[in-house]
Amino acid sequence: MAELKKLSESRDLTRIERIGAHSHIRGLGLDSSLEARAVSEGMVGQQSARKAAGLILQLIREGKIAGRAILLAGQPGTGKTAIAMGLAKSLGQETPFATVSGSELFSLEMSKTEALTQAFRRAIGVRIKEEAEIIEGEVVEITIDRPAATAGGSASGSSGQSSSAFKTGKLTLKTTDMETVYDLGNKMIEALTKEKVQSGDVIALDKVSGKVTKLGRSIGRSRDYDAVGPNTKFVRCPEGELQKRKEVVHCVTLHEIDVINSRTQGFLALFTGDTGEIRSEVREQIDTKVAEWREEGKAEIVPGVLFIDEVHMLDIECFSFLNRALENDMAPILVIATNRGITTIRGTNYRSPHGIPPDFLDRLLIISTQPYTEEEIRKILDIRCEEEDVEMSKDAKVLLTKIGAETSLRYAINLITAAALACQKRRGKIVEMEDISRAYQLFLDVKRSTQYLMEYQSQYMFNEVPREVDEDETMQS
Ligand SMILES: Nc1ncnc2c1ncn2[C@@H]1O[C@H](COP(=O)(O)OP(=O)(O)O)[C@@H](O)[C@H]1O
Ligand SMILES: [Mg+2]
Repeated sequence: MAELKKLSESRDLTRIERIGAHSHIRGLGLDSSLEARAVSEGMVGQQSARKAAGLILQLIREGKIAGRAILLAGQPGTGKTAIAMGLAKSLGQETPFATVSGSELFSLEMSKTEALTQAFRRAIGVRIKEEAEIIEGEVVEITIDRPAATAGGSASGSSGQSSSAFKTGKLTLKTTDMETVYDLGNKMIEALTKEKVQSGDVIALDKVSGKVTKLGRSIGRSRDYDAVGPNTKFVRCPEGELQKRKEVVHCVTLHEIDVINSRTQGFLALFTGDTGEIRSEVREQIDTKVAEWREEGKAEIVPGVLFIDEVHMLDIECFSFLNRALENDMAPILVIATNRGITTIRGTNYRSPHGIPPDFLDRLLIISTQPYTEEEIRKILDIRCEEEDVEMSKDAKVLLTKIGAETSLRYAINLITAAALACQKRRGKIVEMEDISRAYQLFLDVKRSTQYLMEYQSQYMFNEVPREVDEDETMQS
């Protein structure tokens, strides 16, 4: 492996914007002195936990300390995952943030240690600096000619490109000062198509590797498109010459380098996620190469964050792996979350707080999350209504808050959508109390569902199975 391949395109996979459970969270909502604001960046309350997370954020940004582990512990629905997401959002694009759920590690395709290793390496970034000759400009026009497939060698006009090109085309690029037409060959056309480059985009082409990077959409053309995702970046049309020498910085994760260089899969595996196991020799070679780059000043390690949600699903072997992995000097900051109380450690008969072995617990800084007050629930529901674009009357909100306090925050959040649909059905504009109570009647919360089960037990299947006192009974909530 003389030259390690690296790839940063995988970063810019198109994301679909949907309203998810945590899409309202845009950060931790801290001020410059790391105090938690009451309501900010979609975050409400839980101030001491957020402040603690802010300190961790500082630690990560400085990037000096490796191998710290933080445990977020608290009842279900107290915002553990939300805080982790807030942390991720505040980190910015360059710092890798990898998330896995405890149960994801148990797959038939790879061993749990391999899954954990991959997770760790997804959380370690490498910033690679290179001097490159690039062409940077705004796309005026792309035209692609597709001659019939039979027209084998008719690569007319594609000067300087591979002679076996079937497709040819032309790309017109401009800066504020000049405009040039480039001939396109097969490879370039593929690269442009993959990036979905269209006129109005500002792009950079690497002259050596042929890599295409979309820098954003030109501000001048911003009004031509009304359906742009919130991720669309608007940039100015570049000035001066089209060709430039530029220091480019790629940020990739070690995992991405691993996958690209493991011969069996190639980089396509990055897109399918179907990476399989990666041989340890490949990893060793990569580590050596990266160490060389670091020495030559060509690369820097950017330790990121690995977030393992539902960590009580890990078994004793995973925990011992984590113990060891945290001692590596490239180790990311590990954030784990659990809602369990004192319970059995998986794979053993021992009980321990959070189902985590005591030796591993000892390494953790523990942040605990507290249940929300009614006032805080109201504010979170407010934010969620806004996020889901639901207008709700005052009374309805009061009722929903009551429901949230009585049942659970998650249930109340779920009712918003249901109530909005009920409102739509009766052609209302604003969600009223009747819609909330309709949704409340239609969808049971856990308490009522349990009650119902108690009443009608005999009519369900398997109700005769004797109850065992099983570990999950110790779960809080
Ligand atoms: N402090 C908060 N501010 C805003 N939204 C919150 C807050 N805490 C929780 N939520 C939201 O409430 C829901 C449940 O919280 P979640 O983080 O999933 O709980 P946990 O992971 O602790 O079980 C999520 O939709 C989450 O985004
Ligand atoms: Mg959670």
